[in-house]
Amino acid sequence: MNADSRTRLNQTPEWQALARHREELGDVQLRELFAASPGRGAGYTLAVGDLHVDYSKHLVTDDTLRLLRELAAATDVFGLRDAMFRGEKINITENRAVLHTALRAPRDAVIEVDGENVVPGVHAVLDKMAAFAEKVRSGEWTGHTGKRIKNIVNVGIGGSDLGPAMAYEALRSYTDRDLTVRFVSNVDGADLHEAVRDLDPAETLFVIASKTFTTIETITNATSARDWLLTGLKAGQEAVARHFVALSTNAAKVSDFGIDTANMFEFWDWVGGRYSYDSAIGLSLMIAIGPDRFREMLDGFRLVDEHFRTAPAESNVPLLLGLLGVWYGNFHDAQSHAVLPYSHYLSRFTAYLQQLDMESNGKYVGRDGQPVEWQTGPVVWGTPGTNGQHAYYQLIHQGTKLIPADFIGFAEPVADLLPGLVAQHDLLMANFFAQTQALAFGKTPDEVRAEGVPEELVPHKTFKGNHPTTTILAKELTPSVLGQLIALYEHKVFVQGAIWNIDSFDQWGVELGKVLAKRVEPALTEGAEVPGLDASTTSLVATYRQMRGR
Ligand code: F6P
Repeated sequence: MNADSRTRLNQTPEWQALARHREELGDVQLRELFAASPGRGAGYTLAVGDLHVDYSKHLVTDDTLRLLRELAAATDVFGLRDAMFRGEKINITENRAVLHTALRAPRDAVIEVDGENVVPGVHAVLDKMAAFAEKVRSGEWTGHTGKRIKNIVNVGIGGSDLGPAMAYEALRSYTDRDLTVRFVSNVDGADLHEAVRDLDPAETLFVIASKTFTTIETITNATSARDWLLTGLKAGQEAVARHFVALSTNAAKVSDFGIDTANMFEFWDWVGGRYSYDSAIGLSLMIAIGPDRFREMLDGFRLVDEHFRTAPAESNVPLLLGLLGVWYGNFHDAQSHAVLPYSHYLSRFTAYLQQLDMESNGKYVGRDGQPVEWQTGPVVWGTPGTNGQHAYYQLIHQGTKLIPADFIGFAEPVADLLPGLVAQHDLLMANFFAQTQALAFGKTPDEVRAEGVPEELVPHKTFKGNHPTTTILAKELTPSVLGQLIALYEHKVFVQGAIWNIDSFDQWGVELGKVLAKRVEPALTEGAEVPGLDASTTSLVATYRQMRGR
C-alpha cells in the first residue's frame, strides 16, 4: 500500500474486512469465547523478557487477530519499524531520525544518522553520567562550601520530568535512601517552594533538564532555583558550578544560563522528549539508583527492542497491544484506555504513559498532511489499584462506556518491604486477579437472584461483564522489568501511529498555548492591550486583575 492509499486507510480491503468481522461478531460474550475454547487462558498468552502477557480477556477470536495482523502488514508497520531502527528520518515534519532505541544499543552496535555512527556518543555520555553519579553518591562531589550533596532537585517538564520522576518512584527500593530526590516541573512557584523549603542549599544539587533549554517553565524555575541557592549560600555566580548541572541538546543556551558546559550531559535531536528518560535526562535517576542499576534498566529496554525488531507478527507483543488498541478505538468506538498498575511504586506510570501516548498519537492530520478519517490516539488514564477500585471502577464495571484496560502486577513485593507488610501482597494481587475476572465475566441476573437478592435490586446488582483487559504479570519490579515495560509501551504507540499513518514523533499541538501565554502575560502584569484578544478572555483577565488589586 502506498503512502497515498494509506491516507484512505478506512477504504482498504483489510479495514473493510475488519469492519465486516466486527459486525459478524456482534456483541460476542467473553463467557461464550471461554466456554468454546477451554485452553483460551493459556493459549492467548505471550511472553517477552520477564513479562507474561495474557490477552485472553479480549473481545477477539483467531480471525480477529489474523485480520488485525493483515491490517498491520498492509500498512507496512514492520517496514516503518525497520526504518526507525535504521535511523531514517521518519519524523517527517521535523526531518529527524527517531532513535531512542540507540540509547540502549550495545557498545559495538553501529547506527548511523547522516553517515555518522551515533552509538559511541551514546556510551560516552553514559560513561560521563556514571562517573558523575558515582562522585555524588560517594560524597566526592561536594557543594560550594565543601558540604556533601544530599539533595537532588530535578527541574524539567514533560519528557524532562515525567520519565525520571516516574522511574524514581518505580525504583525507590533500589535508591540510595540517604539521598533526597525531588522533581520540580510546574511553573506554579508552589512546586519549587515545596521542593526546596526544607533543604540546605549547601547540600543541594539542581539538575536542569531541558532538551531545548528554552522551555519557559524550566528556565523560570531554574532561574528561581539559582536565586534561592545564591541567596541561601550568600555567594556569587561562582557557586553555580558546584550546584547546577544541565541535561540538554543545546550547549549555547546552557552556557548562556551560566552553567559550565563541562557540567552538561548531552543528548541529541533524534531523541524525542517523551522518549528520553533513558538518555542523559535520566541523570537524577542514575544518581539515585546508581549506574549499574541504570544499565540493567537499559538492558530491559534493549530486550524488548530486540523482540519488537525480530519477533514474528504472531508473537510480537508490542504489535499485539497496538492492534488491540486499534480494534477497540476504530471498530468499537472506545475513546479511552485505562492503565491500572497494581503497584504503589508505579504511581506515576500512567501519567508518564499519558505523555508518551497522547503527545505521540494525538494527531488528526496524516503523514501526507491530509486530515485522517478515523479515530487516532485514545485518552490514556488510570491510577494504581486498589485505590481506583474505590473511586472510578464503578463506571468501568457498570457504566455505559467501553474502556479497555491494562492491568500490571507483580508476583513478589519489592525486596526491602518491611517483613510485616509482605503478607499484604497476596491481598493486593487477589484484587488484581479478581478485577479482571469481574470485568470479563460479570454476574448474570440469575446469579444475583441465586444469592437471594430481591427482584427490584437484581438489575442494579447485575454486572454485564465483557469488559476487555490485558494482564501483564512479572515476577518483580526490577530496573530491567521497568525498562521492558516502557519499551513495550513505546513500541505499542509506534505500531498505532504507523497504522493510523500519523507522525507520532512531533508535537505541534502544544505550541499554540505557549505562544498565547506569552501574549497574555503582559495583560495580566501591566494591563497591556493584547490585540485581537477575544471577549471571554478579555473579561477573565479584567476579573483576574481586579482580584489581584491591580
Ligand atoms: O511542550 C511539549 C514539550 O516539547 C515536550 O514534548 C517536552 O517533553 C517538553 O515540552 C519539555 O521540553 P524541553 O525538554 O525542551 O524543556
